[in-house]
Amino acid sequence: MTTFTPIFPHTRPRRMRRDAFSRNLMREHTLSPHDFIYPVFITEGEGLKTPIASMPNQFRMSLDELLKTAQEAVDLGIPALALFPVVEADKKSLDGAEAYNADGLVPRAVRLLKQHFPQLGIMTDVALDPYTSHGQDGVIDASGYVLNDETVAILVQQAVCHAQAGADMVAPSDMMDGRIGAIRAALEANGLIHTRIMAYSAKYASHFYGPFRDAVGSSGNLGKSDKKNYQMDFGNVNEALHEVALDLAEGADMVMVKPGMPYLDVIRAVKQEFKAPTFAYQVSGEYAMVHAAAANGWLDLEGCMMESLLAFKRAGADGILTYFALDAARLLQSGHSF
Ligand code: PBG
Repeated sequence: MTTFTPIFPHTRPRRMRRDAFSRNLMREHTLSPHDFIYPVFITEGEGLKTPIASMPNQFRMSLDELLKTAQEAVDLGIPALALFPVVEADKKSLDGAEAYNADGLVPRAVRLLKQHFPQLGIMTDVALDPYTSHGQDGVIDASGYVLNDETVAILVQQAVCHAQAGADMVAPSDMMDGRIGAIRAALEANGLIHTRIMAYSAKYASHFYGPFRDAVGSSGNLGKSDKKNYQMDFGNVNEALHEVALDLAEGADMVMVKPGMPYLDVIRAVKQEFKAPTFAYQVSGEYAMVHAAAANGWLDLEGCMMESLLAFKRAGADGILTYFALDAARLLQSGHSF
């Protein structure tokens, strides 16, 4: 028979949690505006700032409006913007050739931003989905299969076009094999030795991209087809490590895991294995989820925003692409504790 004797713990972890000062002292991970890359949707036109229904507070912006947002980002200490174009239907084609038009929307946006904000990092997306009439990230054969090497040849032209316009970082989000090596070789051959490559290395065939596809207008074109023959199966983590190893060997400066919140284990594994600059993309569906629950009064918006962002740092990410960038930076700047 055992008897119960009260034990007064001689270690009381709650002592350190009692007051803000000791909680602050022992906090292991922190957030700063320097951790964020802000993804923005750009469109032709003037004076346009069109709301995106499934992404509250996010807009499709014409370039004059983009400049105002860039100014805000600079004032908040956000290091970089990532540009995503909304391309007019008549510029879309089977092979997505508009993707490397030097006078296209993205190169014009890059030139304008670099002219006004030379110190702000500008990242561009390298993939064909905004430009293809079928919404896939590359060119397809008669059966709808995305052709690898033919697509890589076009992505190389797109990346060089963006870099020549002044993009500081190109970010291939297409998941074709060998594209990082091909892009790196072309950048070097064109004397663009400073252009950084952020590889979407572990990009999963996720259901969380829905609002993004609505925002850029590719979901209708994509119809019922998916991207599973090039984006990764979400049951896998070793495959992510394999992809990261290839991209680093091919010349990536930074690697990314996407989506974010459901893939913190992958971020951790990648950081632990490679110790390379590692980024997370908190994607459109994650953003929409938090907003939708908050709009129902079911979750606290600011609290969940900061908690989810800090979780990426805890998992090992060096930085986060997030639609919350401006809001989170504002909150951090105000000294608000969370
Ligand atoms: C496409 C691309 C996607 C996103 C970034 N680049 C969507 C897709 O692969 O269909 C998703 C970003 C988000 O959901 O926020 N190249």
